[in-house]
Amino acid sequence: MAKAKMIIDKDFKIAEVDKRIYGSFIEHLGRAVYNGIYQPGHPAADEDGFRKDVLQLIKELDVPIIRYPGGNFVSNFFWEDSVGPKEARKPRLDLAWRTLETNEFGLGEFAKWSEKAGSDIMMAINLGTRGIADALNLLEYCNLDTNSYYSNLRKSHGVQKPYNIKTWCLGNEMDGPWQMGHKTAVEYGRLAAETAKAMKAMDESIELVSCGSSNVDMPTFPEWEATTLEETYDYVDYISLHNYYGNPENDTEDFFAKTQDLERFIHTVIATCDYVKAKKRSKKTLNLSFDEWNVWFHATASDNEEMQKRPWQIAPHLLEDIYNFEDAILVGLILITFLNHADRLKMACLAQLVNVIAPIMTENDGGAYRQTIYYPFLHASKYGRGTALRSVVNSTKHDSKKHVDVTDIESAVVYNEEKDEVTIFAVNRNVNEDALFEADVRCFEGYRVLEYLALENDDMKVINTISGEKVSPINKTNYTLEDGIFTTTMKSCSWNVIRLGK
Ligand code: AHR
Repeated sequence: MAKAKMIIDKDFKIAEVDKRIYGSFIEHLGRAVYNGIYQPGHPAADEDGFRKDVLQLIKELDVPIIRYPGGNFVSNFFWEDSVGPKEARKPRLDLAWRTLETNEFGLGEFAKWSEKAGSDIMMAINLGTRGIADALNLLEYCNLDTNSYYSNLRKSHGVQKPYNIKTWCLGNEMDGPWQMGHKTAVEYGRLAAETAKAMKAMDESIELVSCGSSNVDMPTFPEWEATTLEETYDYVDYISLHNYYGNPENDTEDFFAKTQDLERFIHTVIATCDYVKAKKRSKKTLNLSFDEWNVWFHATASDNEEMQKRPWQIAPHLLEDIYNFEDAILVGLILITFLNHADRLKMACLAQLVNVIAPIMTENDGGAYRQTIYYPFLHASKYGRGTALRSVVNSTKHDSKKHVDVTDIESAVVYNEEKDEVTIFAVNRNVNEDALFEADVRCFEGYRVLEYLALENDDMKVINTISGEKVSPINKTNYTLEDGIFTTTMKSCSWNVIRLGK
């Protein structure tokens, strides 16, 4: 049997968890906006055309920040076409996803919708086909209350008070050859630095995210980070990381080991930021924004065919990955990794939120439902707020096809001092054996087990559908808490949430 022993001490702190690590992403892509969050005429639509069934599921997740409007979409986005009277809005071709963007839903609608969802906006600007002037115009439109052209334009659109958007991404995946207006590191670094300078001159309260690599396997990683940060370091607050995971080889054991690669990715980006910091003799420490992450591979082949053979549709079914049980486990493992980097990782966006590689799916003529990955995200967002603790964990290990010394138990601990609660998130990623898990929680005197939730299944490929959830949390009772020692057996391939409190 696999085994792990954990010791927790409330004084061993990693950092306060920034709630924005439970952010997400809505791109003008497929059915994320149209027939996702917005569908006038649908029986569940409110007076603004926003689907209330979807809003309800998002509110449950309590998503503090949502990235918008792309993604690859943003690199050819003309924001001016998406504001003002709807009848005057211009349809445009979206070259990233080869669809027709009607602009019926735009910036103003998104601002209104995100208020209803209880989320802040993380706005991405187009540094692909546009530049500094357009970024400034957009910033003025969104954030300024001056008697000047773009601020007045917003007011003429019926929005007197500025949106005050705090977080701005300086483009999207500019290292990727697929990006409209793709740039070399030097080209991007210069443009991003000058844009950042100008934007902060207009509104010094904003925070800026410099584009990191599109994924850890980019041939230019991490040279891209080093070169671009040489230019942008003094003017930005975060660097972005993006990465998606898949199991095309159908090797569950190796799939679960992929957070070892994620761990290395995060370490390398931190090291690169700190190298530039040292080189510049800077006192500022740059933090990380993991603003695109998820499992993404199920629908890729059919998407490519759809975009090639049937371009310029409105809201086609694209990137509609249907997630299974093992995907939920990987999402749990990723969240655990993020929590253990709470000192440097301050924002993260589950990409995406509705219909497009998403925890929430809708039917155009029907309801909405929770995919399997909804649950680990829900648990982390709900119970993973407070201080991330650095526990000492001694776990048995195994090797997988492409990874060695893979710990059987991966875990993170969050202490919520205000609520007097501590939560242990743990995955048993041993695909053959259950694991005996023991946690020494003696420093939490007087605490009892409030709840022990888990996701368990023998079928790694089982999915949720509109007609039923085969993957949903169960309440566990097979534990003891005696003299400050919590003991349980964690099922092979399981997500576990142990909540202790007074
Ligand atoms: O989230 C889907 C796409 O993945 C985004 O548009 C892009 O930034 C990334 O490659």
